[in-house]
Formats: sequence, C-alpha cells, structure tokens
Amino acid sequence: MDQDPVAKSLALFAARCADPATAIYGRLFALHPEAEALFLMDPGGHVRGQMLAIAFEALLDGGDRLVGLVGIERMNHVNIGVPPALFDGFLGLLRDVVRSVLGTDWTPTMAQAWKARLRILGSDT
Ligand code: HEM
Repeated sequence: MDQDPVAKSLALFAARCADPATAIYGRLFALHPEAEALFLMDPGGHVRGQMLAIAFEALLDGGDRLVGLVGIERMNHVNIGVPPALFDGFLGLLRDVVRSVLGTDWTPTMAQAWKARLRILGSDT
C-alpha cells in the first residue's frame, strides 16, 4: 500500500531531526521575533510540545474533526494575541522545516500532498 506522502515526509523528518521542537520554534521566532514573548509562561516547553502534537495530528489526519479543531484554535489564538495570518503561516513554516531537513529526499509528490493538506486545514502555503 502506498504511504501518504505527508506521513512519509514526517516519518523521515522524525528519524533525522533530533529536536523537532527546537528546529520549528527556532524558525518561528527567527521569522516572527515578537511571537517568542507569547511563550514566556512555557519555560519547560509543554505548551509548545502540545501545540506541535496537534499540528502533526491535523497534518496526518486531515479529517473533519481535526480541521474543526484547527478552526477553533485559530479563533482561540486571536484571544491570546496570535493574528490569523501568523496562525495560518505556521503549518507552511512547519512544511519548510521538514523540506529542508529532508533535502534531496523531499519529492514533488510530497510537495503536492502538503499543499493539498494545508489547503484542507485552511493554511496559507
Ligand atoms: C496550526 C497552527 C496552530 C495550532 C493547531 C495550535 C494549537 C495550539 C494548542 C492545541 C494549544 C494548547 C496547548 C496546551 O495548552 O496544552 C496552543 C497553545 C498556544 N499557542 Fe498555538 N497553535 C497554532 C499556532 C500558533 C502560533 C503561530 C502561535 C504564535 C506564534 C501560537 C501560540 C500559542 C500560545 C502562546 C499558546 C499558549 C496559550 C495559553 O495557554 O496561554 N500558536 N496552540
């Protein structure tokens, strides 16, 4: 059976990236330095870890329940000072980190599958 290309890329990423959270949040804070202050109450990284877990789950699943959950989080995040544009850029940023870790193993099929999954989840690409 063919594996979902998004799942395949995330499995390779997990195998090759020793510390996904540092790679992903490092990029987020490099591009949006103002976002770092939002996590001052999360010194141990539990909230960041949970957020990533939901993002990965939504990417792997792509079903209605997770699409709904991401939609609810988009609204919740406005209340904690995360504008929708920043929220919507997060999954694309995650894709960029995965792509750069995979290097030459990143395929056009993966790129297409990510684009479709991000569209389902309402994120910019
Ligand atoms: C697809 C995009 C995102 C999803 C699905 C998501 C999901 C979540 C979830 C489920 C939590 C609760 C975690 C917990 O307390 O256990 C959370 C918390 C949080 N997220 Fe996100 N998030 C996303 C994007 C972002 C972005 C782009 C930022 C800001 C740069 C952000 C900032 C935060 C902050 C500051 C909290 C802690 C809120 C609090 O408890 O005060 N999130 N996120």
